[in-house]
Amino acid sequence: MKPLRARFGADVDRLAESYGASISFDRRLYRQDIVGSIAHCRMLARQGIIGTDDAQQIVDGLKAIEGEIERGEFPFREELEDIHMNIEARLKEMIGEVAGRLHTARSRNDQVAVDLRLFVKECIPETVVRIRQLQKALVDVAARNEQVAIPGYTHLQRAQPILFAHHLLAYFEMLERDVSRFEDALRRADVLPLGSGALAGVTYPIDRESVAQELGFASVSRNSLDSVSDRDFVVDYVAAAALTMMHLSRLGEEIVLWSTTEFGFIELSDSYSTSSSMMPQKKNPDFAELIRGKTGRVYGDLTALLTLLKGQPLAYNKDLQEDKEALFDAVDTLLPALAIFAGMIGTMRVKTERAAQAAADPLMLATDIADYLVRKGLPFRGAYSVVGALVHHCAEKGISLTALTLADYQSFSPAFGEDILSVSLEQALSARNATGGTAPSRVHAELERVRGVLGENERT
Ligand code: ARG
Repeated sequence: MKPLRARFGADVDRLAESYGASISFDRRLYRQDIVGSIAHCRMLARQGIIGTDDAQQIVDGLKAIEGEIERGEFPFREELEDIHMNIEARLKEMIGEVAGRLHTARSRNDQVAVDLRLFVKECIPETVVRIRQLQKALVDVAARNEQVAIPGYTHLQRAQPILFAHHLLAYFEMLERDVSRFEDALRRADVLPLGSGALAGVTYPIDRESVAQELGFASVSRNSLDSVSDRDFVVDYVAAAALTMMHLSRLGEEIVLWSTTEFGFIELSDSYSTSSSMMPQKKNPDFAELIRGKTGRVYGDLTALLTLLKGQPLAYNKDLQEDKEALFDAVDTLLPALAIFAGMIGTMRVKTERAAQAAADPLMLATDIADYLVRKGLPFRGAYSVVGALVHHCAEKGISLTALTLADYQSFSPAFGEDILSVSLEQALSARNATGGTAPSRVHAELERVRGVLGENERT
């Protein structure tokens, strides 16, 4: 007879059995499942709940199973439903009835919860390392092009000149917040649910603290009902992943724009470009686009999880089996996306001449001319109107602001003096030197600071 069918008179319907099986995807948790089982088994022996010899056989058997899985020799069986029952059944084949002692004081409900927490706890440092690699790529390109100015945009209309490095460092900041969200998620995932039993706790004298210690959990969960049904930690990871993907998507959109002929600020390396099946001249920023598109997938994973959880009464419900594919999909989408972005950013070429040409657009100095009048004593709103009229005049005449003479300026306001003619891109940039501004001195200091942040993290 199949395991777990003792109370039934008939076998489970074949289609239903196959539909209910999770082994096709939860086999990915085999390592966590085995590590968790070994820690549980050792604790049972320490507490005198099972014999030491039995425990040793179980631990040896579990290690042998791990080897089989790693060598691709393990006979996964769908009719055994999930990774937990597959391993348990194989253990019984290997060591006989003594295998049945492993599941003392345990349910699959606390078992799957610990497996999943171990998985998330491993994913987070890996995710952070990859975010750091992308940050490093951004900082390296920024530092190599420290003097390059480009137009800054609002409404995707040229607004004020900025340093290209300042623009890249904006993404450093977004990614820094992402790191802090993942670190925060790690704190909450770092709680041992094992020992909660099916829902109400267990009747044996278990020692949860020692299991927590062996498995590297910072603490032990306080409520058995919550422990077996809580998947907030999965939502935490996937929500952080969704935000990170959103940031990548925005950066991807910039890459797409910047690499057009129309913008022309960067050229991607051939290694991160594709061509067209029909138009041989095309050089497409496919990966930036694809990752922009895949952001929707991760939002989908997050929505699936939130929806999955919202209607469930305490404690465990089979709905929870659906948590794993959403989590795996988010991880499998995010981690390569970060690595690809790091490579793509690290190898792109900044087209400094095009950037300089665009940054020199004199209309972007309009705010600086208004600020000039403010320094001469005009209220900002009055100065704003004067410059608005100046810009209107130039647009009517079809001339550039740089074509205006001092007399032209003075016909709009007597406050203009000779020094108005020296308002320039360089001046506009260097004047914005309050904390957070684009002044070269500020950006240089920021580059130093963020390198410190990255260096510190490399050392720890
Ligand atoms: N495969 C199940 C899951 O992923 C394991 C827990 C099963 N527990 C149960 N009571 N059916 O959630």
